[in-house]
Amino acid sequence: MKPARILATAMIVTVLWATCTSALDNGLAQTPPMGWNSWNAYELKINEELIRSAADFMVSSGMKDAGYQYVIVDAGWKSENRAANGRLVADAKKFPSGMKALADSIHAKGLKFGIYTDAGTGDCDSGAPGSKGYESQDAATFAAWGVDLVKVDWCNSEGLNAKEVYTRMSRAILATRRPMVLSVCEWGDNQPWLWAGEIAHMWRTTGDDKGCWDCGRETMNKPGGYPRGWTLILDAQSALQGYAGPGRWNDPDMLQVGNAGMNLEESRAQFSLWSILAAPLIAGNDLHTMPPEIAGILLNKEVIAVDQDPKGIQGNRVKKEGEREIWARPLRDGSQAVVLFNRGEYSSEITLQWRDLNWKDTKVATVRDLWAHQDWGAMRDAYTANVPSHGVKMIRVTPAHL
Ligand code: GLA
Repeated sequence: MKPARILATAMIVTVLWATCTSALDNGLAQTPPMGWNSWNAYELKINEELIRSAADFMVSSGMKDAGYQYVIVDAGWKSENRAANGRLVADAKKFPSGMKALADSIHAKGLKFGIYTDAGTGDCDSGAPGSKGYESQDAATFAAWGVDLVKVDWCNSEGLNAKEVYTRMSRAILATRRPMVLSVCEWGDNQPWLWAGEIAHMWRTTGDDKGCWDCGRETMNKPGGYPRGWTLILDAQSALQGYAGPGRWNDPDMLQVGNAGMNLEESRAQFSLWSILAAPLIAGNDLHTMPPEIAGILLNKEVIAVDQDPKGIQGNRVKKEGEREIWARPLRDGSQAVVLFNRGEYSSEITLQWRDLNWKDTKVATVRDLWAHQDWGAMRDAYTANVPSHGVKMIRVTPAHL
């Protein structure tokens, strides 16, 4: 083939690749993304020192070794105005070294770098410029900086068609040829589980988790209302399990584990249940002051292994008796991860029967406790545990014949 023809063929292949493939096909997020995001702990009060040291803590605390990869800078990093050529620029006071230098330092620690923008005309809360109309330029800028994950919010989006604008950003990301995770953050307004799997790797299913037990109950069904407490967000996930799988994940929002408003039992419960949901595990606590008992939750490798199970089947609630619930998730090896969840004010016994797991012929199964890290051995028909108020027991149940 003549060089000109080779070039023309290569160009056609590139164009076809960019238009035919979806973000789904770029091989990322085969298991739910894991990382840390600045928003829940710091909101807009971020700067490069703080992000760098959070990345250091991710390494020194053992989070990196446990699988947490992405260091995500949420809203608050942008300058108020774009440059004369339209390029996004970082706030020079908060990020004087610029985002490329920050990305380089995060990569040097063996971690990945995530960044925030908005699909509309302006970011949430900060009012900095959004990416509407600048999708290609912004994606190219992010790629040039070495970004590995882009979270795209939904403020100031009046009149926009969500599927269209997020598809535009997805194509723009693909066109850069840099593999980047696309994290859609449109709060479930336009049922993203129906369309975002084709163009993105994860999509928020609800409004923000405010780190409270069940706040927002009174207003959640009013126009513009959202569930705010994490147990209400949990309830909103139970019809969505069919939409998740490798490369495409429902996102019930970042973890509030370790933040004010969550006691230890509640932090452990959220972490366990998010793992049953195959949710992205994005920590949102202040890593600088993380006490050992919170590190002990975020670093529980047996629970993380449930979240990261390679088959990628999202779990669901299988039983509810008043405030006592059972959530279960089938795993690749034929076992199931099970959470016994007590929403009540007092500790309570909860019984799981093997038939709750759809195992009609299973009489004997072995039980491993994923928080006590102990095998309880073979049991016939059922397992009963005393579960603390607002707490969980999490076990892995394996039929004896496996
Ligand atoms: C929205 C998003 C949050 C966070 C803030 C930042 O509320 O849902 O996750 O990114 O904006 O302003």
